[in-house]
Amino acid sequence: MQPPSRHGFLAGRQRLGINIDHVATLRNARGGALPDPVRAALLAEAAGADGITAHLREDRRHIRDHDIAALMAALKLPLNFEMAATEEMQAIALRHCPHAVCLVPERREERTTEGGLEVAGDAGRLTDYIGPLAEAGCRVSLFVAADPAQIEAAARVGAAVVELHTGAWCDLLAEGRSGDAEAELARLRSAAEQAAALGLEVHAGHGLAHDNVGPVAAIPQVVELNIGHFLIGEAVFVGLPAAIAGMRARMDAARVGPCGAA
Ligand code: PXP
Repeated sequence: MQPPSRHGFLAGRQRLGINIDHVATLRNARGGALPDPVRAALLAEAAGADGITAHLREDRRHIRDHDIAALMAALKLPLNFEMAATEEMQAIALRHCPHAVCLVPERREERTTEGGLEVAGDAGRLTDYIGPLAEAGCRVSLFVAADPAQIEAAARVGAAVVELHTGAWCDLLAEGRSGDAEAELARLRSAAEQAAALGLEVHAGHGLAHDNVGPVAAIPQVVELNIGHFLIGEAVFVGLPAAIAGMRARMDAARVGPCGAA
């Protein structure tokens, strides 16, 4: 098990990590330097974010290599570096040593990270892959579906954290399939319990928005949410600080118990 974070996170308060990938998507649409993802990250920092997430995809469709270097240089907040478990990405992570590395599955043809990482079927390779990252001081997180076999394997391969993929639940809700959504939420709750019992830190993310964040934020073991696409989209209308403040308020409200205690 890896030691606790070297960053002074506020104990007890669920953390909000802001994924700034889609600021880079917008920049790349014109091929210039604007809008600048580092500026968005600094604005998020000033608006009360607890971390910044950036995904360097193999095809560099949004975040580019120079963004990672610039974020590492500019940020006081911890950087959560999302990446596929490839040799190229491991070398980049070891060069920068970000606070956290979140391993995600990646397929070129997908629009976003569609599923969880296959940990159970790739345990030997992942154990070897995670070792040097953990030794370099990165907290290694695995992005997994709410599946007991994957959670158990995540603990076995030496991860410090699992990030539960909330995308399936968000899709079921959006499709109005309330029974299936309730069943998926129950799986997320039980995966969070299982992971925490195994000593893993529990994060969650994907597809979260102002109107659906509550039930996930309320899962007691979930200490961090990572949210991107909705917040960057909402920022077009209300600005990034207001979009973040709205999310923060909903997360805090969801954590308040029946007696008013957080
Ligand atoms: N967490 C992980 C591991 C992801 O891959 C993503 C999407 O890049 C997110 C969180 C954020 O998802 P969204 O952009 O839908 O909020």
